[in-house]
Amino acid sequence: TRVMVVNGPNLNLLGFREPAAYGTRSIKDLETLVRDAADLRGVEIDFRQSNHEGVIIDWLHEARTSSSAVILNPAALTHTSIGIRDAVLALDVPVAEVHISNIHARESFRNVSYVSEVADVVIIGAGFFSYVLGLHAVLETLDRRTV
Ligand code: DQA
Repeated sequence: TRVMVVNGPNLNLLGFREPAAYGTRSIKDLETLVRDAADLRGVEIDFRQSNHEGVIIDWLHEARTSSSAVILNPAALTHTSIGIRDAVLALDVPVAEVHISNIHARESFRNVSYVSEVADVVIIGAGFFSYVLGLHAVLETLDRRTV
């Protein structure tokens, strides 16, 4: 089983940008956390980050055939991108939308997600652990689909 983890704009700066919202650990630390959790479940991780909306859409298309599930943090594009929403809609594999911070407890423009309505799982505000919870949740969704 292979799970694609897609990170949106500015998440390459984790640990350096807004540490009060996102903590002081880097995206490398995040990748290690996710890989360690995946190893325990015997799952392969395809970990990616892009600052470009079109690249993220292309990756989601790729996931249709390359991956069994997707963990997606669209970052700021969560609140703006109908293109990413439509790409998620085009995916048959389970998708977990994850956010490090609680987007409902911040500026009002962050309260709306174009993706939540079309994601299978939504996990918000658990810090980096949101990704680990998202991983276990999509694996659970996969199990349910195959019984
Ligand atoms: C984020 C929340 C978004 O509002 C923000 O633009 C981000 C990160 C999060 O993981 O908490 O870049 O998706």
